Amino acid sequence: MRHSTRLPDNYFPNPLTRRLRKLNSASAPILDLTVSNPAECGIDYPRDDILAAISNSQVFSYKPDPRGLECARAAIAKMHGHYLGPENIQLTASTSEAYSMLFKLLANPGDNIIVPSPSYPLFEWLARLEGLACVTVPTLWCDDWRLDIDALDGVCDANTKAIVVVNPNNPTGQFITESEWFGLLELATEKNLPLIVDEVFAPYPIECQSEALRTILDVSAPECSVFLLSGLSKLALLPQLKLGWIVMLGPASAAAEPLAFIADQYLSVSAITAYAAPQLLAIAPQLQSQVISRLKKNLDALDEALKERPHLSRRPVYGGWSVLIQRPDIEDDESCALRLLSDFHLLIYPGHFFDIPKNGFLVASLLPEPGVFEKAIRILTEAI
Ligand SMILES: Cc1ncc(COP(=O)(O)O)c(C=O)c1O
Repeated sequence: MRHSTRLPDNYFPNPLTRRLRKLNSASAPILDLTVSNPAECGIDYPRDDILAAISNSQVFSYKPDPRGLECARAAIAKMHGHYLGPENIQLTASTSEAYSMLFKLLANPGDNIIVPSPSYPLFEWLARLEGLACVTVPTLWCDDWRLDIDALDGVCDANTKAIVVVNPNNPTGQFITESEWFGLLELATEKNLPLIVDEVFAPYPIECQSEALRTILDVSAPECSVFLLSGLSKLALLPQLKLGWIVMLGPASAAAEPLAFIADQYLSVSAITAYAAPQLLAIAPQLQSQVISRLKKNLDALDEALKERPHLSRRPVYGGWSVLIQRPDIEDDESCALRLLSDFHLLIYPGHFFDIPKNGFLVASLLPEPGVFEKAIRILTEAI
């Protein structure tokens, strides 16, 4: 069967995945420093409250609203504050789906979107599946990551239809600073480009970063269209319930009707989750504080282990669930990750998975259970 050029040429797994599959098929236990699925990390969920939330008898009626049920949109608007109302919100089944809807809304096949890198690797495919190119622009590295606004400006062409930023970024963790917001909004306004701002990790500030604003909502009213994305997946640690949303800010409010038209073709949001959303959002802060304590505990364990290993260090974790571990540039990152997996059954991402431009970086999740994390870090620091 022939398939479209939007799909990969082949589905051949990368060497790390191949080695992992081999170990899995031999049932070898793996120390996994890549976990990002909160449902697998020993989080203490208030199960009764969640079950009560999803057991709403209203689900027996079906009155689809392409924008999503108003009770859910109202609760999301209230949670974000800043005078937002349900009319500013479009529900989606996930943040990934929100991207695909926005790409359909904003661009034609052959157009492109711009994304500062390193960043979340899924953008490449989310764009390609809509017939778009994802143009990555390296973020400047000098003691810290700094958005290169001039470089973003330099790659914009007639086919550019949006700029995507992640705040705080995954996996580097930096929040966008006030001056970076100013530069980005100025660029987007000047080029008449919408800004897509992914804030799925915004509820997880870990280490203080001066000059940073927690959310684009703290920036004064944007003159350009801004689409803010979030979802239950990270905010309430419930990826399995499939609920994301788009917040339309500034001139983006005019997109409410065309976005509802796109959503109407799929009606992908489950009424069960939509009715449950107000209660799930009320539960979310207690889950977030549990995760923040977990992230900090694991970070403390990492710092303790690194004290005795001056050749290893870590980058600050301003926000999010990952930490970048810096190691001597004597072995390429992929070989190092392969060696750790083969010899020690320890799984960690090499930096290039996220387009980190230099060798010498491994990316670890801070989400594993502390016992697992400490053991993995002990092995890692001894093995490198
Ligand atoms: C930056 C970023 N955006 C979006 C997503 C996907 O979120 P969802 O599960 O809501 O599709 C992820 C998942 O890890 C992510 O890291």
